[in-house]
Amino acid sequence: MKSEEMLGSKSFFLEVIVLALLSRMLVFVVEGDTHYYDFVLKETNFTRLCSTKSMMTVNDSFPGPVIRIHRGDRVYVNVHNEDDFGVTIHWHGVKQTRNSWSDGPDHITQCKIEPGTNFTYEVIFGNDQEGTLWWHAHSDWTRASVHGAIVVLPAEGTTYPYPEPDGEELIILGTWYVGDLNEMLEEDLSIPNITTPKSDAYTINGQLGDLVACSGSETIHRWSVDYGKTYLLRIVNAAINSELFFAISQHNLTIVGTDGTYTKPTVTSYIMIDPGQTIDVLVTANQSPSQYYMAARQFVSFDPTVTDFNNMTATAILQYRGNYTPPDIPSFPTTLPSFHDLDSALRFLPLLRSLASPEHPVNVPIDITTRMYITTEMSVVNFIFEGSEISHIAASLNNISFMDPSSDILLAYYRHIKGVYTTDFPDYPPSSYNFTGDDWPSSITKLATKVKVLNYNESVEIIFQGTNMLDEAEDHPLHLHGYTFYVVGMGRGNFNNETDPKWYNLVDPPERNTIVVPKNGWVALRFRANNPGVWLWHCHFDKHFTWGMATVFIVKNGKTPETSLLPPPAYMPPCTLPSPIRLEDFEESIEIINTSPVI
Ligand code: C2O
Ligand code: CU
Repeated sequence: MKSEEMLGSKSFFLEVIVLALLSRMLVFVVEGDTHYYDFVLKETNFTRLCSTKSMMTVNDSFPGPVIRIHRGDRVYVNVHNEDDFGVTIHWHGVKQTRNSWSDGPDHITQCKIEPGTNFTYEVIFGNDQEGTLWWHAHSDWTRASVHGAIVVLPAEGTTYPYPEPDGEELIILGTWYVGDLNEMLEEDLSIPNITTPKSDAYTINGQLGDLVACSGSETIHRWSVDYGKTYLLRIVNAAINSELFFAISQHNLTIVGTDGTYTKPTVTSYIMIDPGQTIDVLVTANQSPSQYYMAARQFVSFDPTVTDFNNMTATAILQYRGNYTPPDIPSFPTTLPSFHDLDSALRFLPLLRSLASPEHPVNVPIDITTRMYITTEMSVVNFIFEGSEISHIAASLNNISFMDPSSDILLAYYRHIKGVYTTDFPDYPPSSYNFTGDDWPSSITKLATKVKVLNYNESVEIIFQGTNMLDEAEDHPLHLHGYTFYVVGMGRGNFNNETDPKWYNLVDPPERNTIVVPKNGWVALRFRANNPGVWLWHCHFDKHFTWGMATVFIVKNGKTPETSLLPPPAYMPPCTLPSPIRLEDFEESIEIINTSPVI
């Protein structure tokens, strides 16, 4: 790989060291504490659903360790790989201001940390980020077991924009697979049809609850509260492929933040949370002292006739401290919507509004300089594999199914290495049709490594349009690395360029890093491209990401050093091994052909 040669050259090292010293000196002017963490990746045994398996964890824990800091602090995480396969870590929602080098996605901003090696991430938060974020592995589907929360408390000497809670609790929602996930994944992808490993249950803080096989009072997470007190509940959806509903029996949830930003307080009896998202809620323990179920289950946006999905409900218990006789069975949240409850899903999202206060202002770009209209679709790519013509299910954006390059995009961009990617990711889909109707063009999807280049500080508007291609319409939680964006509009059907913008919320739109593109609907978002670097956009359903629902935005440097990408650290893991388990595994034998799909 070119990157290794580059990294080995003397002048490159000198340049890196001098630049690194200079930039670190500048950066240390910022106040706040510095925190160092050691993350050791290794296999650990866990027993759930009557069987024991070994899986990759950080420091033997599932979910992994919590990073807890104040706004303005600096964080270094040294990741030591003592497992037997390579992996990277991503700091989900952290802006990594000017520092794509530590963002983490495999083959986008770095290559894997191979077994027996280590890599130190410098995690740089945006100076407006406060609330709950999280971290997770960003190679294959390893994040199923390698993830944890990041808590950003208000800066020292400042406080929450709501009364200080009496306590707090983290709720990490996850997915449980009985088998070895990466093995199942490899097997499933080696055959050309639409199968993915199906999960077996959901977890709340690593526990499945007491409604599943081989469960009991030891297999459930318990949260103890005092009557009359108000708690901050920080909820993370770390599930692999599922949107989730969550509710607590007889207790309202007051939403006060999402994705590391504050919202106007909003009272609800349930939430819907997409993979990648975080939601902070206040809960007041104001019911009669007892035990109450908290529960999470999947929201299924695809066709209700498809019954083959993980229909398990994960439970945990909110228990009041004090003297009372606990019920035989805690009461269950009747407000928890059921799997196919589309209305409850659609009702939830428009509830959210940014706080938009003087301390936490909103700055929605008004004069848009770059507009993009991007379709999300399931599609088919045709190619020659081992001598025979096959079609494989793919997922795509504007009918480009993203192929990982064999080296990494960030280094190629930084060092002007040609042949790794092209800069022609389209601003519009290749053909215009009734996106949410029953007819769609065939053979318009291509496998390619295309990126979109933005000038520094451009104001960008993107409409994501869900499509019904292959009759496979479903929700897509799309996530942008390095940024938060304002969600200014959302609707069902095809986006209407004349009428829909009239309804945009430009006053207090929610600020997110992950937003669901509703099934056969659209979402409009805006942001200012003021973080130079290489940033991945992708569906946070790992199955769709694996099938290529991704692209990359390269934001160019501004005119000053303070508006430019930082120089790379002295060591980056070299790109020696092929990219993750993705469609491009067939790359050597691929010869993309243009015939009609055969499935
Ligand atoms: Cu939560 Cu690209 O990741
Ligand atoms: Cu998706």
